[in-house]
Amino acid sequence: MSTSSKHVPEPEAEALRFDRVALEFPGSARPAVEDVSFRVERGRFVAVIGPSGCGKSTLLNLAAGLLTPTAGQVHFGGRPVAGVNSQAAYVTQQANLLPWLSVSANIGLALKFRGVPKDEREKRIARWTGLVGLDGFEKHYPRELSGGMRKRCAIARALIYEPSIVLMDEPFGPLDAITRLNLQQELLNLWEEQHGTLVFVTHDLNEAIYLADEVVVMSNGPGTVLRTLPVPFERPRTIGSLIESREFSELYNELWGVFRAELETSGVRR
Ligand SMILES: Nc1ncnc2c1ncn2[C@@H]1O[C@H](COP(=O)(O)OP(=O)(O)OP(=O)(O)O)[C@@H](O)[C@H]1O
Ligand SMILES: [Mg+2]
Repeated sequence: MSTSSKHVPEPEAEALRFDRVALEFPGSARPAVEDVSFRVERGRFVAVIGPSGCGKSTLLNLAAGLLTPTAGQVHFGGRPVAGVNSQAAYVTQQANLLPWLSVSANIGLALKFRGVPKDEREKRIARWTGLVGLDGFEKHYPRELSGGMRKRCAIARALIYEPSIVLMDEPFGPLDAITRLNLQQELLNLWEEQHGTLVFVTHDLNEAIYLADEVVVMSNGPGTVLRTLPVPFERPRTIGSLIESREFSELYNELWGVFRAELETSGVRR
């Protein structure tokens, strides 16, 4: 993700592509994901949505190079992902701050690994601490932060080193509704300023529509892509006014329709 300018990305530049990907964990009776194909263009915000266990985290692990497909290929920047994808920042589903490091040290970790000089590191840490609203908490440890603050810290840690792509796995999952709305808006603002590539996993239909340019809808396990829906809302977006718009309800209903059909075919009544 670049912090340099509000450039408009080339529409056809491909960041990530899943090409008929399947992943079967050793010893399991059926694949976790099967025949998954979709493409993420550079500079796009793509939400992946689907029921629990459909393979959303598995897809991010494949994109991060932590898992290797049993069939098909995952491409990043036009090349097959082989080994850990060091160009991807990954905000995993579990809180992943290092408990023995302060907020500042957690946020600056990737810069330290990359050998960024101390002066510059400190400047960037200060900027990102402010951007995610953690001013005054620099010396605190993760255990001294609220759940929402920990998520903010994890997001700053992922975005600070300007990765080519950011993978986020339900980053706001366990938070209360108000904190969640605030953080969703904050993430939108940060992303709209930077215009990087972001793949965001959620099981929340509203969240997917608020945030993304495109929603990839997954079916129940073995997970596969049911549909890809474009989200046509202009940016910058304000979640408050989106919620009230007729277009929002129409898109929500369309998305819900895809899920309802899936639940009906899997025998669950709603
Ligand atoms: N390490 C593993 N070994 C064996 N099976 C696994 C492993 N990790 C995940 N699975 C299985 O793969 C499937 C997909 O799991 P995954 O964690 O990707 O789902 P998910 O869509 O992220 O679910 P959730 O919304 O609950 O986080 C599930 O059936 C799960 O039990
Ligand atoms: Mg998951």
